[in-house]
Amino acid sequence: MNGRDLVRSIKTVGSAGAAQGLRSVRASWRMRRTDAAGLPPRGAERARVPGPVRDVEPGPGGGVVRFSRSELRITVTVNGAVFWGWDGTGPEPSYALAGRCPEPDPRAVLEPDKDGGWRVVAERATVVVSRHGAIEVRTPGGVTVRRDLPPRWWEPVGGGAARWMQRSEVPADARFFGLGGRASGPRLRNGTYRLWNTDPGRSFGPADDPLYITMPVQFVVSDAATHLAFHDTSWDGTVTLREGEEGAGSGHDRSGTCELRMSGGPLRCWVMVGTPARVLLAWASLTGAPALPPTWALGHHHARWGFGSEQEVRRIVAGYQERGLPLDAVHLDIDHYDEHQVFTVDQERFPKLPQLAEELRRDGIRLVSIVDPAVRAEPGNAVFGSGVAEDAFVRDASGRLVRGVAWPGEAVFPDFTHARVREWWGRLYEERLAQGFSGFWHDMNEPTSFAAFGESTLPRSARHQLDGQGGDHREAHNVYALCMARAGYEGVRELAPQERPFVFSRSGWAGMQRYGGTWSGDVATGWPGLRASLSLVMGLGLCGVPYSGPDVGGFDGSPSPELYLRWFQLGAYLPLFRTHASLRAGRREPWEFGPEVLEHARVALLERRRLLPYFVTLAHLARRTGAPYVRPLWWGAPEDRALRDCEDAFLLGDSLLVAPVLDPGADRRAVQLPRGRWYDTVTEQAYQGPGQVLVDAPLSRIPVLARAGAVLPVRGGDGGLELEVWAPARGRTGGGLVVPDVGDGWDEPGIERYVARWQGRRVVVEREGEDGVSAPPHPVRVRGVGER
Ligand code: GLC
Repeated sequence: MNGRDLVRSIKTVGSAGAAQGLRSVRASWRMRRTDAAGLPPRGAERARVPGPVRDVEPGPGGGVVRFSRSELRITVTVNGAVFWGWDGTGPEPSYALAGRCPEPDPRAVLEPDKDGGWRVVAERATVVVSRHGAIEVRTPGGVTVRRDLPPRWWEPVGGGAARWMQRSEVPADARFFGLGGRASGPRLRNGTYRLWNTDPGRSFGPADDPLYITMPVQFVVSDAATHLAFHDTSWDGTVTLREGEEGAGSGHDRSGTCELRMSGGPLRCWVMVGTPARVLLAWASLTGAPALPPTWALGHHHARWGFGSEQEVRRIVAGYQERGLPLDAVHLDIDHYDEHQVFTVDQERFPKLPQLAEELRRDGIRLVSIVDPAVRAEPGNAVFGSGVAEDAFVRDASGRLVRGVAWPGEAVFPDFTHARVREWWGRLYEERLAQGFSGFWHDMNEPTSFAAFGESTLPRSARHQLDGQGGDHREAHNVYALCMARAGYEGVRELAPQERPFVFSRSGWAGMQRYGGTWSGDVATGWPGLRASLSLVMGLGLCGVPYSGPDVGGFDGSPSPELYLRWFQLGAYLPLFRTHASLRAGRREPWEFGPEVLEHARVALLERRRLLPYFVTLAHLARRTGAPYVRPLWWGAPEDRALRDCEDAFLLGDSLLVAPVLDPGADRRAVQLPRGRWYDTVTEQAYQGPGQVLVDAPLSRIPVLARAGAVLPVRGGDGGLELEVWAPARGRTGGGLVVPDVGDGWDEPGIERYVARWQGRRVVVEREGEDGVSAPPHPVRVRGVGER
């Protein structure tokens, strides 16, 4: 909250808002005082660079290169990734890694290079270290994909964390993606991006940066290769990107550059090189497989801040049911808590929550609860009492509890970087499960503490346990939500072991996919917000977080019927499909925008339900391979420059291309097609890629194209699995993978593989097994055969 928001909150929420505003003024002063006492000024600094190389020490997977003022440790690991750490830093401990660091690849050896440099040759990449500490990553064919200049440190003379800067060059044609959830992407244009998880304090649009999830993860695509570079440091920093330029005619190329400035923490980096799919496979093997959402979480969710009562929840659910609109989950926001205190229920307005949950569950609808980390600091509040007894809350350098302000008022914050605290917090979900909740929506966990001025989070000097390492909020801030997600996920897994937990979180960091997904936060209602919401889903997918989606309709205000519909149509093809809005925003139920919108929204909802088996398959594939459900168009053809610059459409798995309408008044749109034949899934008209085509986009639907040859699992009329097959081009074959839905437990279904081919004038589909091909065990429907 800033000054303007303070005035606004006083105006909109009356005296409660005024009290909250005053608290946030006090909190800001308190934060200043705490930091003044807890963080000594940096004083004079000394700059340092590695200096000339001295000697080397080969080791497993690489070795150590010693310079006169630093040493560099390089290890190629068995998953094909390359690690290097300056000042001797190793890959552990790390909040990003899923477990122990992968084993070194014994085949990678350190050997002399020319000009007094050294190199490590591995199967997928060669790393060349110059005499002064520049590091080049090359493809096995010898093309450079990234060149890091020697780093530079600034060390406080009186001791303390060193700041550092790392400048890198990438090929002139390279495009940058990633850095967590960015609203202005997915292609990250020239500019400075901050690495500090931030609640913008109001609804955001494409110009707002940073947002809730930042990650030092760069996904770089160039003709030479795709690579992911991860600087494993949780401290505050900035990344300044500048795309290169290719010299026209006889002109020279100008490399793209990236300058990373960190305020502290180790200088260590992981690089993965290969195709996009290979890079994300290596990333998932390093930072963990994405959690598999339960099947119901792949359906439609309806949320609202301010349902206000059980009756209202019933009314909304009945609204869906009476109109035959599929609904799979209802989310309860902070207004169902007792005075906004997490792990409580307002008994007056929600007196029989378990009963409501049971009724809904019988109708196939699950209840999801918001969970905020802030705990009201008030004697008598049971969660506070138990946290104090457990010594769970963050303290300042002098040992006092750090107090901030959040929805419940004056609040304290659990230190999720402490294993014991995570276990305590995890046990608190027992109360939620007893109320009948099936899933958890972590919010305000950047963490946010409202501040009238300065930053809306905890003081930088606040102490954290950091899993035994000890440190302060400068280091813990960006991993706070990641650790909260772990606490929630592991707690629920223990309390309800028969079902896969469903946790999604507003904030997070590299590796958060292990515990679940995210949503886009408070996206501003408006056409730019619609575009931003797609940017976030795509960018996060490239950072290894495949499950996310926006607040359909935008968080604030009231969307026009057209905007609402276009958002709804896009949301129907994103992993998390959820309508949600703020307390004072207009309604978001599909029937609130007139009969025409209702009809078209119904089509989108029914299509989502029909595609559920495909979403289940994509969820399993994401878990097994790290490939996101929503992929940029260049996923299979990163060398296609036109696709690389296309940001307004995406591939949903291998089979579908979704081209949402992101502008008002459009009834047609241009679509950049990857190579091959594509069918409009409604008209069955065929288009030939690569190239741009114009397709119809009437208000009733957004263009969705199917790849020729695709075998798509869908829900048939009787609810069973059916294969929808799109005719391959003549003379070609097709195919697809299907992972059957085996429920919300932990059973591991096998993957079914299908091939599609022409046999005379018919398209036949066969299942490929270990002992040859067989007829598919599901009904098959072939489409697109009318086309030649
Ligand atoms: C934050 C969340 C939003 C939620 C609100 C109230 O603004 O981002 O989704 O509705 O808090 O809990």
